[in-house]
Amino acid sequence: MTTLLAIETSCDETAAAVVEDGRYAHSNIVASQVEIHQKYGGVVPELASRQHLKAIVPVVTEAMVTADVAWEDLDGIAVTYGPGLAGALLVGVNFAKALAFSLGVPLIGVNHLEGHVYAAWLSRSRRARRAAEEELKFPLLALVVSGGHTELVLMRGHGDYGLIGATRDDAAGEAFDKVGRILGLPFPGGPAVQLAAEQLSRYGLRGRRNMVDLPRAWMQGTYEFSFSGVKTAVLRYMQSRMKDQDLSEPLATSPGGIVATDVPLYVAQVASSFQQSVSDVLVAKTVDAAREFKVQMILVVGGVAANSLLREEITAHAPVPVRIPDFAFCTDNAAMIGACGYYRLQRGLVSDMALDVDPGARLAPPSTTIPSEGYGGGRRS
Ligand code: KG4
Ligand code: ZN
Repeated sequence: MTTLLAIETSCDETAAAVVEDGRYAHSNIVASQVEIHQKYGGVVPELASRQHLKAIVPVVTEAMVTADVAWEDLDGIAVTYGPGLAGALLVGVNFAKALAFSLGVPLIGVNHLEGHVYAAWLSRSRRARRAAEEELKFPLLALVVSGGHTELVLMRGHGDYGLIGATRDDAAGEAFDKVGRILGLPFPGGPAVQLAAEQLSRYGLRGRRNMVDLPRAWMQGTYEFSFSGVKTAVLRYMQSRMKDQDLSEPLATSPGGIVATDVPLYVAQVASSFQQSVSDVLVAKTVDAAREFKVQMILVVGGVAANSLLREEITAHAPVPVRIPDFAFCTDNAAMIGACGYYRLQRGLVSDMALDVDPGARLAPPSTTIPSEGYGGGRRS
């Protein structure tokens, strides 16, 4: 049995987890800084680093106590080295180095995006873990959709990635966040837009998800994505509706920053139409790539994989089994870093004390791009 302590501080969550054999999270502690950044409408890097410094000791302690694991039982320390905010990453990496050095155990640097992919290996119960072991098969296709990235990656084996397509502009999560802002919803926009969209049912319009006509960037013949056009279309639509109002003023938030249960009908309509347009493109391209590259399964990972509509639609349309991590393992967490760290350790991929942060680290750099054999698609009927 291999027990790793994992640490993740790449953005605005201070997270620590104790993970057994890369599959089972004994603990998964996440201290969110969302309240600190909310009033700025986005993450302020300097504030994030300072908050990580304050939170790292209590968060790591809580992960160890919750898991009921002693320091001497640890077989290694896994930590995110990038991509992310440099100052934020430095807190985790230096803390992990000090721990690994003092305990005399291996230090394992993990790429945050690879961590998101390995979230699909995690389960909360030992029984589910056994089932998971049987299901995962290579080659598989990973749709990585987070706040900073949107990529389709072919995974041929552990640590073996090829890039099939990526976004040319905004990441899917970034588009959700910007649209949330345009609609006056609280930060982060993803969960808020989803909640607003779900309120269509309050108006008796459940399922009417295309009430506002928004574009889909099909990027014909490529597996690339583009989400800036739909975001601009939402902005234009709102500007034309609200000529006399200041769009920077929240329209639909309660004083605590929680989405009110009564967003106006047009906010629910725009939110649901936007969500549908993003999901349509993500699902169509993922399904087409799964067929072309003859994968055995599809993984959908990263913060946007928490989106209920995307989860439903990809599962309904995929030609092969789909694995989407539990909600808690979709958005940033340390358990996924522990899962990935385990598979790296298995292959002898340990880091030394020279491990440095790499804010721009890639999962599958453009040099790994796998050309498509004449992909004609994109648009679905
Ligand atoms: O993976 P993640 O936690 O952090 C990054 O690595 O970026 O992803 C955060 C992103 C944010 O843009 C957030 O708005 C989005 O994931 N997100 C969602 C949902 N929950 C989080 N987007 C759509 N629907 C959700 N339910
Ligand atoms: Zn992430």
